[in-house]
Amino acid sequence: MSKKYVIEGGKRLEGTTYVSGSKNASLPIIAATLLNGGMNKLYNVPNIHDTKMMLKILEDLGCKIKRNNGKIIIDSRNIHNHEIPESLMREMRSSVIIAGALLARNKKVMFTYPGGCDIGSRPIDLHIKSFEKLGIHVKEEFGYIICEAEEIIGNDIHLDFPSVGATENIMLASVFAKGTTKINNAAMEPEIIDLQNALNAMGAKINGAGTNNIIIKGVEKLKDLSYNIIPDRIEAGTLLCATAITGGNIKLQKVIPEHIMTLLNKLEEMGCTIQINKNEIILNSPKKLKAVDIKTLPYPGFPTDLQSILGATLTVAKGTSIIVENIFENRYKYLNELTKMGAKATIEGRTAVIKGVRKLSKANVRATDLRGGASLVIAALNARGRTYIDNIEYILRGYENLDKKLRSLGANINIEER
Ligand code: UD1
Repeated sequence: MSKKYVIEGGKRLEGTTYVSGSKNASLPIIAATLLNGGMNKLYNVPNIHDTKMMLKILEDLGCKIKRNNGKIIIDSRNIHNHEIPESLMREMRSSVIIAGALLARNKKVMFTYPGGCDIGSRPIDLHIKSFEKLGIHVKEEFGYIICEAEEIIGNDIHLDFPSVGATENIMLASVFAKGTTKINNAAMEPEIIDLQNALNAMGAKINGAGTNNIIIKGVEKLKDLSYNIIPDRIEAGTLLCATAITGGNIKLQKVIPEHIMTLLNKLEEMGCTIQINKNEIILNSPKKLKAVDIKTLPYPGFPTDLQSILGATLTVAKGTSIIVENIFENRYKYLNELTKMGAKATIEGRTAVIKGVRKLSKANVRATDLRGGASLVIAALNARGRTYIDNIEYILRGYENLDKKLRSLGANINIEER
């Protein structure tokens, strides 16, 4: 059965809402609970498809899981499997970070190539090369990648590109390694800091997360974990952009403003006024937004996950905006859908040029990936008339109660099942 969003655009968003726990921090931290062979309590885990899938993989490996709203108890004392089920691997690319955790725990893991959103080729060569640097043998057989080690040995690893997933996989794989592992050119995303904090709370010895040099000193064992996940900066950005495109005002709570400074700067350049309090952002939008240029880069640059979100917002900004997508080559599919709603955009390789129009209009559109799908929601909130967004399963992978939160701000959005 397929689900649709039905959105009647044109309502100004007004009011207060909050940000849920971070999807991209939850996934590696859930994987990390495999390491200690103990009892783990995680708080503020968003109840979304991707976290459910990650928990399903852990269950399949032998963990016992209890879920109560945002609180999850994971008992990882008994694990009886080292193979990540192919169907779950296909569902979600981030399942590849289970590999690092299972290697550290069992010295062996088998998996197939990961799936996930179709936003460009998503190789795992950096993960594999890094495993090999840690003394892990990697071979491909019958479509499986089999990784095995007698002993995991710390080493210096230089990443050609600061891959988020590869950085996390190295941190997980080397927790019990003999000696010290150093990651140079590591990803610096806030989710990496959250993973470091969670691992250290278990007794790991890691420092440097948040810089491009991370040092992991191998330890012998870890203890039980109780940990609260950081708020989702991409969801925060989505709610702010949704408000801005309707000319609305929002008080956003449970947010870490410093995680989205690049977006806040852009929104100010576009004419919004922004007040930042400790865990709160108040945004007031102007009558008419102004065009800005964006270039996506690894953190602390502008996040690729907000490219489509801000891109949709810019379709009604005064002037011409130029976007350069440097992280994933296939992240402009949403613009084809937005054209159906009256947006004016051209794409040339990694660059998109958006000419602002006065208003968008209703259309029947289709989510093509998670963030691209969310960008259609943003556009529909502005559009005249009733927009139908098909394939919203993509959006539900990454947003907890998006429709509910938008309704609480006055949006007219509903889910229709067929
Ligand atoms: C993570 C995020 C995703 C975000 C992305 C970039 C999670 C669950 N997902 O994805 O939302 O969009 O970071 O901020 O946290 N690459 C290689 N070889 C590799 C690995 C990556 O060439 O072995 C390339 C990719 O093709 C891409 C770039 O590196 O061009 C960035 O990918 P990476 O940082 O690894 O993203 P993910 O960890 O998959």
